[in-house]
Amino acid sequence: MFRLSGEAGAEVRALAARINARVVRDGVSLDRALAESPPPAQRDSGLLRSLSFGVLRWHHRVQWQAAQLLSRPLAPRDAELAALLRLGLFQLQWLRVPDHAAVSATVAAASMVGAGRARGLINAVLRRFLRERNEIDERMAAVPGARYSHPEWMLERLRVEWPDDWQAIVDASNALPTMWLRVNARKGSRAEYLAMLEAGDIEARAAGEDSAIELAEPRPAASLPGFEEGLVAVQDGAAQLAASYLDLRSGQRVLDACAAPGGKSAHIVESCPDIEALTVLDRDAGRLATLETALERLGHDAVVTVGDAGEPATWWDGRPYDRILLDAPCSALGVIRRHPDIKVLRRPEDIAASVVSQRRLLRSLWPLLAPGGRLLYAVCTLTAAETAAQVADFLGNTPDAGLTGPVAGRARQILPGEANRDGFYYACIDKKE
Ligand SMILES: C[S@@+](CC[C@H](N)C(=O)[O-])C[C@H]1O[C@@H](n2cnc3c(N)ncnc32)[C@H](O)[C@@H]1O
Repeated sequence: MFRLSGEAGAEVRALAARINARVVRDGVSLDRALAESPPPAQRDSGLLRSLSFGVLRWHHRVQWQAAQLLSRPLAPRDAELAALLRLGLFQLQWLRVPDHAAVSATVAAASMVGAGRARGLINAVLRRFLRERNEIDERMAAVPGARYSHPEWMLERLRVEWPDDWQAIVDASNALPTMWLRVNARKGSRAEYLAMLEAGDIEARAAGEDSAIELAEPRPAASLPGFEEGLVAVQDGAAQLAASYLDLRSGQRVLDACAAPGGKSAHIVESCPDIEALTVLDRDAGRLATLETALERLGHDAVVTVGDAGEPATWWDGRPYDRILLDAPCSALGVIRRHPDIKVLRRPEDIAASVVSQRRLLRSLWPLLAPGGRLLYAVCTLTAAETAAQVADFLGNTPDAGLTGPVAGRARQILPGEANRDGFYYACIDKKE
């Protein structure tokens, strides 16, 4: 159970409220808001993450509950106060904290975010919730956005596109994600690393691909045995399928076109150490810096280039690639469980924009592929427009492209939560000889 009351309990809630307001009011990603926030006291870092992720995971529900409990809506300038109310409601339902402690620490946080005058309001709203919770829950059953804690437009899209699966998708997206590891095959085997985990009393099991391990409980990466020495990396089980779908062989030239932060680039080198060369490209220099640190930790070499994959003339040396991985920018609806801010930040029109960008990247990269080569198209989402329809459109307009595939000649959609993995889509597009 987290330590709760007093100044420190209020401080971490005030930090969480500011972070939440940055996401909800300013449209900043949660990763960025957390990185830009002053750090909490060491002992509160776990609690800050639980509050920051949890309140966004349940945003649409607690926002609706707050609206039921307020006599009139808060003004836009009260973003931190609104965030504190959502945090209070989140704690009362999902955090293992005694109700009175959660209420008093949240009330005490009000003056720290410039909402001291609303202490009475926060106290009254949270206490009323505790009294009327059953009736509020009953009313919520008729409000899908609150009940499933997703924006209505997203629910509607999922219902239309996945009529048999949408509820399982939504439940998986609201669940806490499993922590997966990828063992660095250049430094040791999965069996050896499982033995190290066992020796450290860390419960885990072999799962999925040759190098994949699923932990029973998430933990900080730095606390894993051999992490600093590069024995292991954190990577979801669905993302670990890319290397095998690429079907890598020695002597091949490989392009990872949208590479940062580099999980799949590292896996490519680990899976087939004797490829001729790996070109790692991304247009975001900051994300590429993270990638370089990760490759260094794992002990891998690659040619790292900042550039727009849609404009090869600015970075390509003219020698065709045997394999291209296009892990394209997308709506990311398959990874909501890891990035719950997506539910707050994503807009319906973003999907159409992703489709345009993916089409441009597919068309620009295709001429760089050698005859007989393979382009692996990957997106961490599940909308038809970005997956099957995107690939069908490309095949229809590209006479020398054919779809072979990971699963008996087809592309593969993994739904969120399937075998505890993130949602992902893969299509192996081969160039005719
Ligand atoms: C889904 S992430 C890639 C994740 C990465 N493959 C991994 O496994 O760690 C998409 C990446 O595409 C990059 N990106 C988006 N548009 C791009 C473009 N036109 N050219 C190059 N990179 C691009 C983004 O900066 C982002 O890093």
